[in-house]
Amino acid sequence: MSFYKVLVINGPNLNLLGTREPEIYGSDTLASLQEMLDKKAKELGIELIHFQSNHEGDIVDIIQKTRNEVSFCLINAGAYTHTSVAIRDALCGVDLPFYEIHISNVHKREEFRHHSFLSDKALGVIVGFGVRGYVYALENAYYYLTNK
Ligand code: DQA
Repeated sequence: MSFYKVLVINGPNLNLLGTREPEIYGSDTLASLQEMLDKKAKELGIELIHFQSNHEGDIVDIIQKTRNEVSFCLINAGAYTHTSVAIRDALCGVDLPFYEIHISNVHKREEFRHHSFLSDKALGVIVGFGVRGYVYALENAYYYLTNK
């Protein structure tokens, strides 16, 4: 039985994981990442809602639509991290605690990736640990939910 539902959002181009710049993002696909997370979620008794979109408004919509269902969000907003006030506003607007995740270490990449519209609102930021960062984030979301 699951006590908590967690929304896992992957933004633009993360559907290409596995073939997209593997030297930066590794060889795991989005499906294998989701499988890895589902396994961990099952161990923890958490139910996951997986959502990937290349469209900013769709990400805003899923945050609004699931607002009464989910207790936490893990979000890799991809490039929207660096541009989207709308996604920031949606997360703040529904008062959803979240961790921001990046597969790559954005701080050792181009300067435009150093700024995030989400970081100062996130409970935590996980950067540069590859896809394992998501698993770490889920474990910490569980810790947060069961200790608050
Ligand atoms: C990313 C980093 C972003 O700068 C980039 O636009 C992505 C992926 C990451 O997971 O490392 O799409 O969020």
